[in-house]
Amino acid sequence: MRNNRLSNIYDHRTVILSNEAVADGHYLLRCECAEIAQHARPGQFIHVMVSQDTGMLLRRPFTIYTMDGHEITMLYQIIGEGTKRLSEMPEGEPLHVLGPLGNTFDFTTHPNPAILVGGGAGIASLMLLATALRKNSIETIGVVGAQRQARLLSVTDLRAIGITVHIATDDGSIGHHGYVTDILIDMIEKTNWPRPTIYACGPHGMLSAIAKIAANYGVPTQIAMENRMGCAMGVCLGCVCPVRTAADTIEYQRVCTEGPVFNATDIVWDI
Ligand SMILES: Cc1cc2nc3c(=O)[nH]c(=O)nc-3n(C[C@H](O)[C@H](O)[C@H](O)COP(=O)(O)OP(=O)(O)OC[C@H]3O[C@@H](n4cnc5c(N)ncnc54)[C@H](O)[C@@H]3O)c2cc1C
Ligand code: FES
Repeated sequence: MRNNRLSNIYDHRTVILSNEAVADGHYLLRCECAEIAQHARPGQFIHVMVSQDTGMLLRRPFTIYTMDGHEITMLYQIIGEGTKRLSEMPEGEPLHVLGPLGNTFDFTTHPNPAILVGGGAGIASLMLLATALRKNSIETIGVVGAQRQARLLSVTDLRAIGITVHIATDDGSIGHHGYVTDILIDMIEKTNWPRPTIYACGPHGMLSAIAKIAANYGVPTQIAMENRMGCAMGVCLGCVCPVRTAADTIEYQRVCTEGPVFNATDIVWDI
């Protein structure tokens, strides 16, 4: 990953242009944020103030899903009170958006064929990267997982930019009946590609399993972590995760500033 935290962070007071359900419990929100759309890079996120009510003062972090001219979108899952309220906000409602924040995926150091692995709403963190990989003519395959077909995300968007997508669902309602990791292992063992790079985002258990696969097969793997956040500015230490350093010590790094993108094998998963 690339640690290029930008000095350009913008606090937009914008309005919602659209906010529509795209799958069971998942919404796509579109708003105008010209400077963020101009400066954001794959993997970076925005910090969104959902409401100024007491009890909802903390912003919520979301990855930028797409950028088009002056507009950005975010693809989000309803998890708790903040995302529920967000899903109820209509077109024209004011929104405070801070960003772009965090580091970025680095596909220039490892310009290998890419396997993108997204679990649930985690695929949202890989869409800008998918677009950038295609623009740079890097062969890319997507592996997208969901609990069931009605919660499947982004397959059409990925196919629209020319990416072959493999699907896994927990209940087998579409695609492989099982986990994205089953498909990933198959691809690593059977593919004729020289050496892929894996980029992944999703639930903690999925990422931890992918880190083991990365270590077993020696495949470079970058993951986007989605720890809970407070400030998203590197101050509160609410988002830290344990990382093994080059000196083989463990230090706690901030997902909001040193991340959200890490090498999968640097994270200490079993603490
Ligand atoms: C860098 C980053 C990028 C993200 N990008 C996206 C995105 O593009 N799309 C998307 O749908 N989500 C994304 N998330 C996750 C999203 O921020 C949370 O789902 C959201 O903040 C939950 O807010 P809430 O008020 O609805 O839930 P809360 O009321 O805050 O929490 C409800 C419950 O969910 C748990 N919880 C909340 N957040 C998390 C979390 N991050 N990890 C594990 N458990 C959690 C809480 O412990 C609690 O039990 C991202 C997170 C990070 C850090
Ligand atoms: S969220 Fe405050 S330091 Fe990362």
